[in-house]
Amino acid sequence: MTTNTSNEIIIFDTTLRDGEQSPGASMNLSEKIRIAEVLEDMDVDVIEAGFPIASNGDFEAVHEIAKLVKGSIICGLARSSKGDIDRCAEAIKPAERGRIHTFISTSPLHMKFKLQMEPEEVHQAVIDSVTHARNFTDDVEWSCEDGSRTEHDFMCQTIESAIDAGATTINIPDTVGYAMPMEYAAMIEMVMNRVPNIDKAIISVHCHNDLGMAVANSLAAVQVGARQVECTINGLGERAGNAAMEEIIMGLRTRPDHLPFTTRVKSELITKASRLVSTVTGFTVQPNKAIVGANAFAHESGIHQDGMLKNAQTYEIMTPESVGLTESKLVMGKHSGRHAFREKLIELGYDLGDNAVQDAFKRFKDLADVKKDVYDEDIVAIVDDAFVRTNDRINLEKLEVLCGTEHQPPKATMTLDVDGESKSAEMTGDGPVDAIFKGIKELTGIEPHLQLYQVHAVTQGTDAQAEVTVRLEEDGKTVNGQGADTDTMVASAKAYINALNKLLVKREKTAPSALSA
Ligand code: KIV
Ligand code: ZN
Repeated sequence: MTTNTSNEIIIFDTTLRDGEQSPGASMNLSEKIRIAEVLEDMDVDVIEAGFPIASNGDFEAVHEIAKLVKGSIICGLARSSKGDIDRCAEAIKPAERGRIHTFISTSPLHMKFKLQMEPEEVHQAVIDSVTHARNFTDDVEWSCEDGSRTEHDFMCQTIESAIDAGATTINIPDTVGYAMPMEYAAMIEMVMNRVPNIDKAIISVHCHNDLGMAVANSLAAVQVGARQVECTINGLGERAGNAAMEEIIMGLRTRPDHLPFTTRVKSELITKASRLVSTVTGFTVQPNKAIVGANAFAHESGIHQDGMLKNAQTYEIMTPESVGLTESKLVMGKHSGRHAFREKLIELGYDLGDNAVQDAFKRFKDLADVKKDVYDEDIVAIVDDAFVRTNDRINLEKLEVLCGTEHQPPKATMTLDVDGESKSAEMTGDGPVDAIFKGIKELTGIEPHLQLYQVHAVTQGTDAQAEVTVRLEEDGKTVNGQGADTDTMVASAKAYINALNKLLVKREKTAPSALSA
């Protein structure tokens, strides 16, 4: 039998590692730090902050998060080679509690075609990698990649050796999202029954969602003894994603009769985390997504509304408050003072320095001049908008757009501050947004490929702020830019410029250069 008898489930978040591996979901350092801080506030047990050998950016993110975040274990991913593990160890060094997560494929398919290694060589690599990782930390997790398609005998042998070599967590991933809940649970049970030293490790699960089973598989595994669940905010991750953390947490919280387990995670911060991850990555959440979709707590039909008014439990199995969803609150108008504004920021979970509060307050006043009702969501958009614009080389000074039903091409006239120099352009385009983007390209000389242009209304009403996301790609590198404004064209320009500034940071990391145009 195993030590996995505690009723507490360890929540391991991999939004910043597996989540960031989704094509287009790239995040920069400050965005990763913001997400890590929210995860820490939520009391997530383990944050997998990146794959340090993958790039200098990944290394830096793990290292910085290890310095800043003290409430969660900070984990880095490493393949089985010494180079990977050394780099990972270096990255997690500043952490109060650091973990090395090392992995190698164990399925016949992966060993033969991906690794081109014999099973005996893979087995030795497991022993060597875990032994090496233990030189740096007592907290070592080992994963048998493509676990759900691995032969049982080989899985048991490698797990036993990994534990003997010092692994304290054994992760059995359903890497390709192939497993069915009963089958996956049976595999976990098989490991618990057959691996003689399994009582010395925690069993972890890491399920992908290719068949839409990631959460079901994870919870089925918990029911038979797994005690760590690897998951991501909004289910972000490779291909169809990973198990969604919000669904795991609320499944456990809502059905203790079937799942008599606890987690430390504060479910009330789920909505905040979901919105942040969605804004930063540009991956919008589908309206009918469980827990965090815009319609997850909306009741449209008359019969449902009638039932809800009589007793909310008629159609609501969880309260919106339990996931941090509160009624859109009218916060203040243009006469509200600085003190009330600061209080509101604190209530919304922002702990900003004096300068940032000052800046946000000015933006709030500007907004209140053009928008009668200012809601919590507006304040969040203002602060988020300020966050994304620090040390920018390109800034929007002025924009005017001409468009309409008359047969003239839409025209954008703009002035940008580029590296301290004011530059103006007038440009026509196939539409007003096209004209704006062409003008910005002309003034900066940067010609990236536009992968995504997306507009989202922050609140209801025609005076709502537009939150625009732009995804740009250059030489295989992608960046997401955001911009918010009551004028959709201004928000579009801000988002495009934000993405360009991020692209410049990425470029500068290899070769600093002046802007050519
Ligand atoms: O899906 C997977 O197998 C992984 C491993 C690295 C744990 O992400
Ligand atoms: Zn994965």
